[in-house]
Amino acid sequence: MFKIEQDQRVLFVGLVCVDLFNVLPTFPTEDQGHRCLDCYWQRGGNASNSATVLSLLGGNAEFFGTLSDDRELDFIQKDFKEYNIHFDKSVIIPNTSCPMSVVIISQETKTRTILHTNKNLPELSLSNFEQKIDLNSPSIRWTHFEGRDNAYEISRMLTHINQYNEDRKSADIGYKPIITSLEAEKLRLAPGLDKYNVWELPDVMFISKDFAKSQGYKTMTEVVSGYLLKLKKGAVVICAWGEEGAAANSEETGIVTSSAFLPETVQDTCGAGDTFVAATIFALSRGQGLLKAITFGCAVAGAKCGMQGFKGLS
Ligand code: ADP
Ligand code: FRU
Repeated sequence: MFKIEQDQRVLFVGLVCVDLFNVLPTFPTEDQGHRCLDCYWQRGGNASNSATVLSLLGGNAEFFGTLSDDRELDFIQKDFKEYNIHFDKSVIIPNTSCPMSVVIISQETKTRTILHTNKNLPELSLSNFEQKIDLNSPSIRWTHFEGRDNAYEISRMLTHINQYNEDRKSADIGYKPIITSLEAEKLRLAPGLDKYNVWELPDVMFISKDFAKSQGYKTMTEVVSGYLLKLKKGAVVICAWGEEGAAANSEETGIVTSSAFLPETVQDTCGAGDTFVAATIFALSRGQGLLKAITFGCAVAGAKCGMQGFKGLS
């Protein structure tokens, strides 16, 4: 249903930032000095991480977002290249600071605490999308949006793609529409999703555990049965739930679930959700059904939790 050709691209729209990791034996205590076991930089941001994982799995990934012209730009561009991720349509905004996250990994509790700063880098808008992304290009067949606090612009970009699909379909019955997906992860996104009716726009809706909990949900199956009713006909909803695994639902399949794949030792769970999203999209785009796709998503995300960063996934 969501199959695309192997050489066709998945476009990941959202954030790229720099993550500064500090690995500590235990979570730090306020107003004390601590010795870290390790400290390193990594390219981060949900869309950027998902592009990394899809590329490592053998897919064709493109990142599209805003980039600051700050000193970190060179690092980010080199890193995208190293991972074979296209990023040349991204919009460089002068006189802005690169968004940064300090990520504290506690070896004792296996947690990743993220302190994120974005001083002034603007979100991507429909006009950036229209100027840079040529929907006529046969290479881009799937567009995934990281839902940030930009529900209005996301609704406009999704509507733009849906309209393009409609126009092409009426001109050519054999036309295969560009597939769209959206992840609701950031809690700040919730009011905008309702206000601009974003629920009715994508083909695949990912809902994170934290987002769902903030809306009062207690289990992943409740989430996928509740949210399917808000989506357009034929759409699917997918929800990852940490160590419990993931669930999905569609009219065609009903609710399906996968357990998590626990690694021998949990090393770094930062980006587990982004990995799950990428691996699930990868499997769906290769023609796998919903159950197989979320099971693959959990397997790859579990493997990622057992390693530092993403490189070992290749
Ligand atoms: P997020 O990074 O958005 O908080 P989750 O914690 O829900 O995402 O994790 C996403 C997926 O990653 C889960 O569905 C699960 O398959 C996998 N995962 C997360 N934490 C673990 C863990 N400790 N062990 C194994 N797999 C995990
Ligand atoms: C992980 C992540 C980090 C980034 C943060 C942004 O999911 O994408 O790489 O610092 O979230 O919110």
